[in-house]
Amino acid sequence: MSQYWSGRFAREGMIWGSEPSPTAWQAEKLFRAEGVESVLVPGAGYGRNTKVFSAGFTTYGIEMSTEALELAAEWDPETTFIAGSALEPQLNVQVDAVYCYDVLHLFLEAERRQLIAACLAQLKPGGLLYFTSFSDEDTNNGRGRRLEPGTYEYKEAKYAHFFSDADLRDHFTGTEIRETGSFPESLHSSQGGSHEYILRYIIARKTD
Ligand SMILES: C[S@@+](CC[C@H](N)C(=O)[O-])C[C@H]1O[C@@H](n2cnc3c(N)ncnc32)[C@H](O)[C@@H]1O
Repeated sequence: MSQYWSGRFAREGMIWGSEPSPTAWQAEKLFRAEGVESVLVPGAGYGRNTKVFSAGFTTYGIEMSTEALELAAEWDPETTFIAGSALEPQLNVQVDAVYCYDVLHLFLEAERRQLIAACLAQLKPGGLLYFTSFSDEDTNNGRGRRLEPGTYEYKEAKYAHFFSDADLRDHFTGTEIRETGSFPESLHSSQGGSHEYILRYIIARKTD
């Protein structure tokens, strides 16, 4: 997977442009209302979304791709980016909130659970989680070779997990789930193209 992303960042630069996802603004508003001071963004890419948080919170991004990290250091110098895998805890502090955009669906089940466990380990008790991921309502769900229940190789050499609401809630068992939902998201490329797809989100609180 790391080769896939590094190749794309090297070829396309800021793949999805400089605009953050509207969900980053929603999470930022929620985090402010809840008195959050520090935020972790696993799979931060080139900092498109971290920039929303680093304007007001101490922000950490974990990212595996060197090419993305080079772009991120320029685009969002306020965030502390850590090179490494988000599947393992990387911080030696615990944060007040985690925002994770479109990373969870990239993994098979064992690694999805590992990602959530790593996020929880780096989150203070009572801290907030805001995750987005592909929805089973998206048109790519069910396309291509099935690797696991709900997980399809929907493009050549690229697979994703497509979440139902129940499945997403199941991944966050042990947390206090505050809200879930689905929504259409438009991604605009730096080359001017755009693509619409359906995402789910979940907002939860670490209980202990
Ligand atoms: C779909 S992109 C989303 C990027 C970013 N969240 C955004 O919206 O701009 C997935 C990102 O996760 C990163 N990634 C994939 N596996 C990872 C891992 N195990 N640890 C850290 N980052 C990872 C990729 O390099 C890529 O930047």
